[in-house]
Amino acid sequence: MQPSLLEELTPVPNPYPIRSEVEYPEVWRLCEQARELAWDPTSIDFSDLRNADLPSEVRAAGAEWWSLRAWMEHGAVPYGTERLREAIFRHEPFEIKQQITNFIAEELRHHEASFLIANGLAGYHDEPRAEYFKAIIPKFHDERDEKAMSFYAGLAVNTLFEQLSGELLQARYENARFESVRLACQLILRDEARHIQFGRIIMRRFFAELSADDRRLLGEKFAKKLRGSLLNGVYAVVNLPPAERERAGRNRALAAEYGLGATHPDDEISIIKRGVDQIREDVAPYGVVIPEIAEVDRPSAATH
Ligand SMILES: [Fe+2]
Ligand SMILES: [Fe+2]
Repeated sequence: MQPSLLEELTPVPNPYPIRSEVEYPEVWRLCEQARELAWDPTSIDFSDLRNADLPSEVRAAGAEWWSLRAWMEHGAVPYGTERLREAIFRHEPFEIKQQITNFIAEELRHHEASFLIANGLAGYHDEPRAEYFKAIIPKFHDERDEKAMSFYAGLAVNTLFEQLSGELLQARYENARFESVRLACQLILRDEARHIQFGRIIMRRFFAELSADDRRLLGEKFAKKLRGSLLNGVYAVVNLPPAERERAGRNRALAAEYGLGATHPDDEISIIKRGVDQIREDVAPYGVVIPEIAEVDRPSAATH
């Protein structure tokens, strides 16, 4: 082969050693549970939603809400594939690659369950109708932020968010009055519990070894992601521009009033505040400090 041709080939890193011995038995246990607890979103009967006597604006609000949920669940898939790629090229043990692969499959089925709910209401939107969301959603994850942290510190930050979204999901589950939505929320929560568990294992195993710089970075990245993206209409409507905040907030309230598995905008911040305080408590023993997040820690000051 000519040298010039060789240069055009994508280099494939040496795959060896391809490790099989289990180094983290607790992670392997989660992988076994994932196999036992697999579920199929298409086996949920969504006819209760299709047959429900709901005003058309409520159906539309619910479809918008569950479309947003579907986009956000999908966001975990590209994030997960980047981590899987890294895990492979770092020669991480088998159970780490398996756990991340499970994570991707699970987030994808959360995505699927969410668009099936939207379809049962007024149809899934495959892209946001609001210009604001069109612009902001692609910016939710920044690989540069991710790569600034060590591999395991990054995984841990992500699972702190899993913990927070778990809190919100619990509230949505409690709001859901339709059997299909309740069941979907319950099954998603069961998967999320494993994602959170993975984070705790990582935390116990790696946080004690983090450098002071990594610790500081971790708290800052967490606060940055929460403020800069998730409060912009995903976890809460608080940081949306006023017109969009009003529109999205009204629809969300409508979906919540009819028990479609939504969180009422008035309740979101207090749920997040509880979650963030719990996370602060969990990371404090490792010397990780989550800086003040005005919208959450001083909501009356931030919204006026
Ligand atoms: Fe999820
Ligand atoms: Fe998750």
